[in-house]
Amino acid sequence: MIFTDLRHYISTLEKLGQLTVIEGASCDLEIGAITEMATSRPNSPAVLFDSIRGYKKGFRILTNFLAHKSRERLVYGVAEDLSDSEAVRYWKDKLKEFKPLEPCHVDSGPVKENVLVEDDVDLAKFPWPRWHERDGGPYICATSAITHDPDSGFLNVGSYRYMLLNKNTMVAHIGSGHHGDVIRKKYWAKGKSCPVAVSLGQEPALFEAAGTNLSWGVSEYGFAGWMRGAPVEVTKGVVTDLPIPARAEVVLEGEMLPPEHGMQVEGPFGEMSGYYGGGARPAPVTVIKSVLYRNDPIVLGLPPFLGASRGLLSSRGILIWNELEALGIPNIIGVNYSWGMTIIAIKQAYPGHAMRAAHGALGGTAGYHGRFVIVVDDDIDPFDLDDVLWAVATRCDPETSLDVCRRIWSYKIDPRLPKDKKETGDYTGAVAIIDACKPYHWIDEFPRTTKISEELLKATEEKWGKFFKE
Ligand SMILES: Cc1cc2nc3c(=O)[nH]c(=O)nc-3n(C[C@H](O)[C@H](O)[C@H](O)COP(=O)(O)O)c2cc1C
Repeated sequence: MIFTDLRHYISTLEKLGQLTVIEGASCDLEIGAITEMATSRPNSPAVLFDSIRGYKKGFRILTNFLAHKSRERLVYGVAEDLSDSEAVRYWKDKLKEFKPLEPCHVDSGPVKENVLVEDDVDLAKFPWPRWHERDGGPYICATSAITHDPDSGFLNVGSYRYMLLNKNTMVAHIGSGHHGDVIRKKYWAKGKSCPVAVSLGQEPALFEAAGTNLSWGVSEYGFAGWMRGAPVEVTKGVVTDLPIPARAEVVLEGEMLPPEHGMQVEGPFGEMSGYYGGGARPAPVTVIKSVLYRNDPIVLGLPPFLGASRGLLSSRGILIWNELEALGIPNIIGVNYSWGMTIIAIKQAYPGHAMRAAHGALGGTAGYHGRFVIVVDDDIDPFDLDDVLWAVATRCDPETSLDVCRRIWSYKIDPRLPKDKKETGDYTGAVAIIDACKPYHWIDEFPRTTKISEELLKATEEKWGKFFKE
């Protein structure tokens, strides 16, 4: 289904009975706590906050808009009746057909209904919640930020959190090595500021694309167009040359100043690791020069919460799986990316196959920022963590099946990265490869499992199952 804009998506959710409107909530922890409650209960609707305390009616925030299974399927165009594993496989195969559908340029769009420049810029017009109890300030955390690579012309869109500083400045956390970070450093190396346009709300495919770890040079605009089956309409910004989504709710245009122009403290923020791992640290400032917004704008909010449901189709495991196949590694049965652990199930075909898969995952674009890569055999379900632990406990020999890779790409929000490394900007850590496969050279002699055979289970179920209803 092609959503023309966020409003179209919201009205669709409303028709499906998947939207609730809450009035009168406060940006100070209340919207965060309500969102945490909603996202941790699997059948909760999307939540549209209006008449937010202290803000003009109509200046709204939408949360819990994707976590729900059927909402995710709607945005990804994946049929509701597929099981989770069928849906993962469907999307994985579909991704192989990806061909960028480039954005189409239009002269103007609803995003320009209101334009504030220079002294009229006031970021505090929009609701900026303090989501978690120890957050260092108000945050907008489901953005789609557009930058332009000065060398290749590549248009990048990434999703980063921003903390509000004052009426025209904010400070971002952009993980080192993310494309937005690589691009901004190119401008800074020439002593220039990096132009940026930050969309705070637009139809969901572009937001999903912005949060997807695509390879360097692949524009998320083209990916979003392909995903939704129609190009994203873009229009030229007001103070930058960046193409901005014409039907966006709010776009902030400005520049990321080089660090030598002064840094401001960013954080702490409740992060996806379940910790305030990044702490409060100086980060480069973004100065906003224009604010473009629709009448009655809607800002997206997708803060991480411990225990909140996570997207199945947006999981990095699917991307890693395709990257391993693109490397030519055979017999990949499934890949799960969970809590920074990559779990790869393979049907071993030769000695060293497991380690090849592990190194492939570490070297790709999607399998980064984790501490463990676990490789299991094809009889283990990588999504069943109990099953995975059983394999680790019984097939992995700590003396010969563990490897530690050092100086691997990590980032400042890694809760286990020692403080002194963070202080010196050494965002590299160690990754353990756990080979939890049966040793290939004696795989046929490995003790048989006691697991009941499929045939015996089926026969028993047919004859005696009625006594043991699930
Ligand atoms: C809701 C959401 C919030 C995110 N917040 C951040 C963030 O604050 N900083 C960051 O570096 N990455 C964040 N990410 C991950 C990046 O958006 C993702 O890795 C993306 O591919 C990076 O884009 P880039 O490599 O094009 O810069 C977030 C992702 C999502 C879905």
